[in-house]
Parts: sequence; C-alpha cells; structure tokens
Amino acid sequence: MLSTKKIILGLSGGIAAYKSINLIRLLIKSGAEVRVICTKNALNFVTKVTLESISKNKVYCDVFEENNDYATEHVALTDWGDICIVAPATANIIGKYAGGIADDALSTSLLAFNKPVFMAPAMNCKMWDNFSVQRNCSYLKANGVYFIEPTEGFLACGYEGKGRMAEPEDIVNFISNLLTQSACLYGYKALVTAGPTHEAIDPVRFIGNHASGKMGFAIAEALALKGADVTLVCGPVNINTSNHHIKRIDVVSSDDMFNACMDLFPSMNVCIMAAAVADFKPQTTASKKLKKGQNDMLSLEMVQTKDILRNLGNIKKPGQILVGFALETDNEIENARKKLLSKNLDFVVLNSLKDKGAGFGYDTNKISIISAGDVLNFDLKTKKEASEDIVNNFCKILLK
Ligand code: CTP
Repeated sequence: MLSTKKIILGLSGGIAAYKSINLIRLLIKSGAEVRVICTKNALNFVTKVTLESISKNKVYCDVFEENNDYATEHVALTDWGDICIVAPATANIIGKYAGGIADDALSTSLLAFNKPVFMAPAMNCKMWDNFSVQRNCSYLKANGVYFIEPTEGFLACGYEGKGRMAEPEDIVNFISNLLTQSACLYGYKALVTAGPTHEAIDPVRFIGNHASGKMGFAIAEALALKGADVTLVCGPVNINTSNHHIKRIDVVSSDDMFNACMDLFPSMNVCIMAAAVADFKPQTTASKKLKKGQNDMLSLEMVQTKDILRNLGNIKKPGQILVGFALETDNEIENARKKLLSKNLDFVVLNSLKDKGAGFGYDTNKISIISAGDVLNFDLKTKKEASEDIVNNFCKILLK
C-alpha cells in the first residue's frame, strides 16, 4: 500500500484531469499524503478550489505566485515528495520533460525531482502514435520513468483509439505493486565491486586473478531491478552493462578500488564487496619494462594490499549495510563468521571451493549466507539467481 508515502501529483491540461480528482481521493484513502502541482492549462479542466479541498493542501501552479510558502517552492516540494505521478500527462509535458525544459511550476519541479516518476499519458490517439511523442516516451522510459499506458476506447475528441488515461484505480494499483514488490529498494544507493584487480609489476606486466566479474555484475543488475541506484566499481573485466540505473566506474589496481570505495561508501546505504581484490602487490612497480638480461630467476618483493572491506567496516555508520564475500577451502562457516565479526559486516556470502560449479569463471554459484544468528544454504544456481538470493536477503534486513 501507499501508506505514509508523500506523493506529488502533477496535473497537466487534458480533459482527463477530471479523473485526477478521484485519483487524489484514492491515494489519500490508501494512506498517502498528496500535494498537487498543476499547469495553468490544467485549471481549465478542474478548479484550484476542488484540488485544494480534495488534497487538503495548497496547490502550486505559478512559480512567481506571491503566496507560495517558499521562494523556491519547486525545490522544497521535490525534497518533500517520495514519488511524483503526472496524471494526466499530455504530449506537451512529456515533451518538455524529455527535452529538459523548465518553463512552469510542473516542468521545473520534474527536473528538480530525482526520485521515481510515474506518467499516465492522456491524449488524442493520433498524437499518442506520433513518432515524436513515442520517441520522448522511449527516452523517458530508458531513463527510469514509469509509464502507466493509456487505454483504448472513445476519446473526448470523438476519436476511438489508444489515448485514454488509465483509470485511477489502475494507476494506484500499478504504483503500489511496483513500490511494494519489485521496486522495494527505491531511493536506496548501493555500491557494488566486481572483477579482479591488476597489480602492476612494470609498465607491461601485472599480477591478477581469474575473477570474471560475473557475480558482481549480476548483483548490480539485481539491485537495479529492485529500484536501487547502483554504483559499480569494477576491475578489468570483459562485461558490458547498459542498465541506466548502474553507474560504472572502471579501476585497475587494489589502490584505485580502495580510493573509489572509501570516497563513495559514506553516501551509500549498502555496499557489497564481490570483487576478488588482490591480497598482495609488488612492493615497487618498475618504471621501465624488466629485461631478462642474464638472469634465470626473478624475485619480487610483495606487500599486502589495503583491505578495503575492513576499512569500510571501520567507517560504517548505523543503518549502513556492508556485505563481504569469502572464498574458503576449509572450516568454511567458522572462517566466514570470523570475517563477519572482524570486518564489522552484516553478512558474508560464502563460496566453498569444495562445491563443484561454484566460484571463478563458472556461470553458476553455490552460496551460503552467514549472518550473526543464521546460516542460509542455497542450492547450486545461476549467478543471476544467486544474486537475487543475496539481494532478497538484505531487502529483508533493510525493510524489516
Ligand atoms: N577484500 C577487500 N580488500 C582486499 C582483499 C579482499 O576488500 N584487499 C574483500 C573481498 O572483496 C571479499 C572479502 O574481502 O569481499 C574476502 O576476501 P578473502 O580474500 O576471502 O578474505 P580475506 O579477508 O582477504 O582473508 P583470507 O585471504 O585470509 O581468507
């Protein structure tokens, strides 16, 4: 349900604005608080008095109106709201939003709003089919805006076709389903690391490992699917990601990864360290390529790398969730428990090298999740499924 959600309802100028009165009523009935921002054209279809009486809040319409509570009402309201619904969304407001235009209260607020936006379009069917409108909708969808598709039927303009705004009940159901089930990590910021690190010996050689990055990438995708805003810090890997909710930062060495993670972690809600960070690196990196010369042997002095997870555990604040991986060969659970405590983690994802099909290079993984009071054992699954198990586990912690 939408209980305790703060909702900004944007109304643009279409005949379907009359249905939005009922939408406000249903949103309030399901426990939400609603504030309305409307375009001047919307007020040709419904009155400000009606909107204010139903929403029980002042309606914001004119950026320069003198009796606004704040000089920058659009920013104040966008800080307040958890989600924004534009219903009805005309071709004009869709086009302005896609084009980054801010020339009235609603379009300005939309650009300042960095949380989930839902659009319920309503327009003539020929306008809806127009290539330009469709391009704008595709662009907005690709950037994470949710569309509650218009339905087919008789339109106010006399045409019959697709363009009727979805019914208020359907809009409320769509949003509450999305927020409660699939998108339970909306508004959460997640840091994920993936892949190996390369520790330079000289300008052309490095010490690395066989990590493919598949597990970390799958976790990043699973988090993004649940609505989280993900930053993926990855070592050298051959994987692409096109998900617009995943911001990718490529690094090479353990020091690069350390700096990136220490920088990012304070602003994150969760961090999952799935990278196979090198434990040792050459003490010095030769500035020129090492030549064979007369030597049969080459010795490298190695020093320990910084333990990123331990350092993150040291600066972890209450409410932040930190997850580590452990690859063990013996006394798996006991060792994982030690890691949990010594690195101040919320849980450890354990891979045992004894399990066939698990770990490096495989598309499958067999994991156990070790937390303070619990050991959860999972079957051998695809890395995608295993990543969903991991993400579901901390959804349980975050949302309890
Ligand atoms: N890790 C890290 N920084 C390092 C090495 C590892 O953050 N320099 C993280 C990994 O990303 C992983 C976890 O630590 O999430 C566990 O790594 P692992 O090598 O299994 O454990 P270690 O703590 O290094 O201990 P040991 O090698 O003794 O098992």
